[in-house]
Amino acid sequence: MRRLPEPPGHVSQIPTPALVIDVAALDRNLRRMAEFFAAGPCRLRPHFKAHKTPEIARRQLAAGSCVGLTCATVSEAEVAADVCGDLLIANEPIGPGKCQRVAALATRVQVTVAVDSTMGLEAMAAAARHAGVTVGVLIDVNVGQTRCGVLPGPAAVALARQAAAAKGITLRGVMGYEGHLVSLPDRAERETRTRDAMAGLVETAAMVRAAGLPCGIVSAGGTGTYDISGRIDGITEIQAGSYALMDTDYGRLDVPFEQAFWALGTIISRPDPGRCVADCGHKSMTKDHGLPTVRGLDGASVVSLNDEHATITIPPGSKVTIGERVFLRPSHTDPTINLHDVFYALDGEQVVGVWPIAARGYPEHRR
Ligand SMILES: Cc1ncc(COP(=O)(O)O)c(C=O)c1O
Repeated sequence: MRRLPEPPGHVSQIPTPALVIDVAALDRNLRRMAEFFAAGPCRLRPHFKAHKTPEIARRQLAAGSCVGLTCATVSEAEVAADVCGDLLIANEPIGPGKCQRVAALATRVQVTVAVDSTMGLEAMAAAARHAGVTVGVLIDVNVGQTRCGVLPGPAAVALARQAAAAKGITLRGVMGYEGHLVSLPDRAERETRTRDAMAGLVETAAMVRAAGLPCGIVSAGGTGTYDISGRIDGITEIQAGSYALMDTDYGRLDVPFEQAFWALGTIISRPDPGRCVADCGHKSMTKDHGLPTVRGLDGASVVSLNDEHATITIPPGSKVTIGERVFLRPSHTDPTINLHDVFYALDGEQVVGVWPIAARGYPEHRR
C-alpha cells in the first residue's frame, strides 16, 4: 500500500481531483439518523458500501442506535471487521474462495450472509464446518426489486427450513431490500408501495416462525425509505448507507440529510467568457445518476464530464479564474467514492484529517 498523503493544512493545498468531507455535516447526518432510531424498536445497520471508510463507520457506530454494519462484499466485510463485531453481508457469497473467506472472518466477528439458493447455502455451510465456525444466514427475499432473492412466502420458508437443518450455519432471519422504491420522488407513492413490499417480508417472517424456525432479524431499507420501513411493526433493522454523505439523486427527496462530501477540482482553463473547465471528470466521479452540480458558483452548471475534465458553463460576467477550486456535488455516492483512495476531512477550509477509503475497489487483489 502507498503511504497516505500528509494532511495539507488548507483546502487550497489538496491535490485534485480529490474527495472532501465536511465533517460537521457528516456528524449532523449521523446524529439525525441515530436519533430517529433511538425513538423506536427498529435499529440501524448502516451500509458500509456507501463509503467504504472505517473512520466513517466508527462515527456511525459511536452515534448510536446501531446493531452492526451492513456490507455488500466479502472484501468490505474484511475491512469493516476492524471496526465492528457484527456484520451482515447483504449479498450472496458465491465464487472462488468467497465462502472460505466468510468463514475465516467468522473466527474474528459475528458474520451473517444472505442466501437465496440451496447451492449457496450448502457452500456456506460446508466452508463454515471446515473452518469450525458458525455463520449466520438471512433468507434473501425478493420484495419487488427483482434482483436476488427468493419469492416471499412458501419458497422462502422452504429455504429457511434447509438453512435451519444445515450444520455450520445458523438461521437468523430474513431480509428484503426495496431498492426499486427508495428513490421514488413522490412521498405518498413511496410510502404506499414500501408498506406493500414490507408486508410481504413481515408476513414471510411470520410464516418462518410459524414453521418453528428462528427469525429474529427482519432486515430491509435504504435512505429513501428508512423512516417508512423503519417504523413498520416487525422490521427489526434498516440498512441505509447514503444518508451519511448524500448525493444529488437523494438530494431530490424529502429526507432530512445534508450534502456532506464533494469532488474537489481545480479550474484549469477559462477558454471563453461563458465556460470554464475543471480537472475532475468521470474518472473521479460517476455520472450514472446524472451530472454533478456546482457548489458556490452562482449560475454555474456542469454540461459534460470527460475522463479528466468537467466542462462548466458560467454567467459571462463570472470572475472564475484559472487555479481556483471548485466543489462538485456528485450524483451517486457509492460508485464515486469507490474511485478514490482517501477523503480529505474538512473543518471549514482547514484539512483536519486524511481518511483512507480502505475497502475501495477490491482490496483482496492489493494484498
Ligand atoms: C442490499 C442493500 N441494502 C440497502 C441499501 C441502501 O442504500 P441507500 O442508503 O443508498 O439507499 C442498498 C443500496 O444499494 C442495498 O443494495
